[in-house]
Amino acid sequence: MQDPTQDPTNRKLLALDAAVLAISGDLSLADTLSRIVKTAAHLADSQYAALGVPNDTGEFLAEFITTGISEADAVRISHRPRGHGILGLVLRDGLALRLRDLRSHPQSVGFPPNHPPMSSFLGVPIVRKNRRLGDLYLTNKLTADEFSAEDQLLIELLAAHAGVAIENARLYEAVQTLSVVEERQRIGMDLHDGVIQSIYAVGLTLEYVKAQLGDGDVTGAADRLDTALDALNGTIRDIRAYILDLRPPRLENDDFSGALTRLLAEFKANTLMQADLRIEAGTLELINRGVSQVLFHVAQEALSNAAKHSRASRVEVRLVKDATEISLVIRDNGRGFVIEDTELRFGHGLRNMRDRAAALAGHLSIEGRLGKGTEVKLSFPRTD
Ligand SMILES: Nc1ncnc2c1ncn2[C@@H]1O[C@H](COP(=O)(O)OP(=O)(O)OP(=O)(O)O)[C@@H](O)[C@H]1O
Ligand SMILES: [Mg+2]
Repeated sequence: MQDPTQDPTNRKLLALDAAVLAISGDLSLADTLSRIVKTAAHLADSQYAALGVPNDTGEFLAEFITTGISEADAVRISHRPRGHGILGLVLRDGLALRLRDLRSHPQSVGFPPNHPPMSSFLGVPIVRKNRRLGDLYLTNKLTADEFSAEDQLLIELLAAHAGVAIENARLYEAVQTLSVVEERQRIGMDLHDGVIQSIYAVGLTLEYVKAQLGDGDVTGAADRLDTALDALNGTIRDIRAYILDLRPPRLENDDFSGALTRLLAEFKANTLMQADLRIEAGTLELINRGVSQVLFHVAQEALSNAAKHSRASRVEVRLVKDATEISLVIRDNGRGFVIEDTELRFGHGLRNMRDRAAALAGHLSIEGRLGKGTEVKLSFPRTD
């Protein structure tokens, strides 16, 4: 039997399939657009291809992404198309247009100086939910004198998928921008309410010291300077902990122990606390990727809490197992806390850790001993 993938129609469909998968994989808008243009040129064997993005009124081209023309040649062309001639026809009518020679069309306005010669033409609009997202323009069919009805069909199919890909990429970029804006606002607020207030308080203390010195009260001034120094050190500690908190979680590849090691190294550098990691032999093998994600987040939050709240000098992270369970334990030697007496309304950390433990069918225990330290322990059943 003949190999079905060698049939010319099937090959085109397979090429379209591959193209659609490729363009849906990009999340950046610029990458998506450029990949769509290249794909279109390849699918229809065309020498040049372009994607025109209309301006807000849909009359002119705001963006024009091309393939087939070298950058040097593109620079020599006196201006980009604005959407007056044939391109404008597709742009404003919103209908596909196929021409054997675009130069002989009555609407053709000719080419600007230094433009490469172009004859056969295929233009297809990209529409999504009744909105025009752009147009695909192909020129100079390489393997024939003009584009075929089959080429048109293929590019129309591609355009439908391109519409989805462009919309996704736009939404994705909008969400990214939004989260950056929110994050900035949050950082601004945190700095204002936290660090700036603390430094302001230190400033007031120093004003007072000045007055004391003026009155000749050197001992009083020295005491107060100590207070100011303590406050400044506390602020530095807070900023370090805050930076630690801002870092996005990174658990690359499947390297859980590597990720924990990096997390602890960063913690040490930022808090100047001693930090040890102990992983019992044979435990890592029992942990799959999904579980290691959860454990990493719990370790990260527990360490961040130790940095922010514990005033400890040492923390220890342990991963251990017994016959039925695996446990992640994070212990510090700081001031400890009584969970029942703690205002938990504002923090999300402990609650998130509990939710994460539940997702593993496990349980989380938090044991704070005042003046002695805190131990956070997440245990979950072995499934080996
Ligand atoms: N290791 C610790 N040492 C001392 N106190 C702690 C420790 N961990 C948590 N706490 C206390 O428990 C409270 C609740 O912690 P939680 O992680 O839920 O919130 P948060 O850290 O204040 O805020 P968020 O985690 O949302 O940034 C903390 O505000 C702190 O008072
Ligand atoms: Mg927390």
